[in-house]
Amino acid sequence: QEGLFTYDPGFVSTSACESKITYIDGANGVLLHRGYPIEQLAENSDYLEVAYLLLHGELPNEAEGQRFRDTVKNHTMIHEQMRHFFNGFRRDAHPMAIMCGVVGALSAFYHDTMDMTDEKEREVAGFRLLAKMPTLGAMCHKYSLGQPFMYPRNDLNYAENFLYMMFANPCEEYEVNPVLAKAMDRIFILHADHEQNASTSTVRLAGSTGANPFACIASGIAALWGPAHGGANEAVLAMLEEIGDESRIEEFVARAKDKDDPFRLMGFGHRVYKNFDPRAKVMRETCHEVLKELGLENDPMLKMAQKLEKIALEDEYFIERKLYPNVDFYSGIILKAIGIPVSMFTVIFAMARTIGWFAHWNEMVSTNYRIGRPRQLYTGYTQRDYPGKK
Ligand code: SDX
Repeated sequence: QEGLFTYDPGFVSTSACESKITYIDGANGVLLHRGYPIEQLAENSDYLEVAYLLLHGELPNEAEGQRFRDTVKNHTMIHEQMRHFFNGFRRDAHPMAIMCGVVGALSAFYHDTMDMTDEKEREVAGFRLLAKMPTLGAMCHKYSLGQPFMYPRNDLNYAENFLYMMFANPCEEYEVNPVLAKAMDRIFILHADHEQNASTSTVRLAGSTGANPFACIASGIAALWGPAHGGANEAVLAMLEEIGDESRIEEFVARAKDKDDPFRLMGFGHRVYKNFDPRAKVMRETCHEVLKELGLENDPMLKMAQKLEKIALEDEYFIERKLYPNVDFYSGIILKAIGIPVSMFTVIFAMARTIGWFAHWNEMVSTNYRIGRPRQLYTGYTQRDYPGKK
């Protein structure tokens, strides 16, 4: 149809698409954050340093890094009235449902008093989101148990504080295991940002209308929840539990290849990577470290995952389609070993991705951006008259 494919500079050129934050080369399995390979960041950095890098474009010096960490600590508590939102949910509510609600509600506590056209105010909004997500995430878990919420502690680092708020209780001492905290921090790094995936694109599109960052991050949480995206880590565990025994792996691999069967091998394949997801390799090493630390090297779930990975990587269906393990394939096994309930896996993904979402939102609103307006390919009726039209 005439004009159907008109090039619309109004959409494609808007800074809703352009970014300097993350680069992915899907064919070669490359992921760079502001030019630094994810493997080197996972090995040498920590999550808050990566957060600084994503936001500012450079690694912080000693003083900048310390100031950044101290500022995050000043924002970890939430407004006491926010606690009432939790009471409106059933105890068995999915924590992602709660997070969609309570993160959106941050707009009512913070946005109304902030001027998002002011760079400094935007920075405070970023600190509030980065600092409060672990507190809200841990509250979801405590609420599901009927246990009291644990206040954040400023003597702990970001990952230690999250594990403390998740597993401590007021009646006894709780010692954070440094190996598990390091693994938690690495999982945060590996999930921090990933270019313009479905949830980040959702945040940017919402932000392009001028919506406030708290509401935009809530829209990202909703998009991430789907099993094709951030919900895959939870789905990998459900899949491994459904397979149940190594003897049934071939049956499920056959199902994954069957066009008439909706079953897909969760944790495999990717919209962009047609090679190994570089994060999956780091995640696999971390998985071995954590299970070794916990004396679970022979964990049946891990054995099954390793066998499934081997079979799939040698199967021509997966080879032809360039399907490799992605970031979600091993993360669930680590989180389960740390003691995180499966329902909380995607909450942890959302917590980690918040800095990526915010960095993309902030990058876009700092430019002369225009509202995003995806164009459709119309395949409906051409114009026609109402029957018996006068
Ligand atoms: C994340 O975009 C991002 O960056 C996302 C993410 C991030 O950090 O933000 O990386 C996080 O979402 C990782 C992906 C997690 N999702 C899963 O693990 C769910 C399982 N994976 C599939 O649902 C699938 O691979 C997708 C959704 C991830 C990608 O879907 P695509 O783009 O449709 O896959 P494709 O085009 O590469 O598929 C090619 C073929 C198709 O078959 P044919 O039509 O060619 O015969 O491979 C098949 C697909 O049906 N296929 C699979 C498969 N994934 C693709 N077959 C079996 N099992 C799978 N997992």
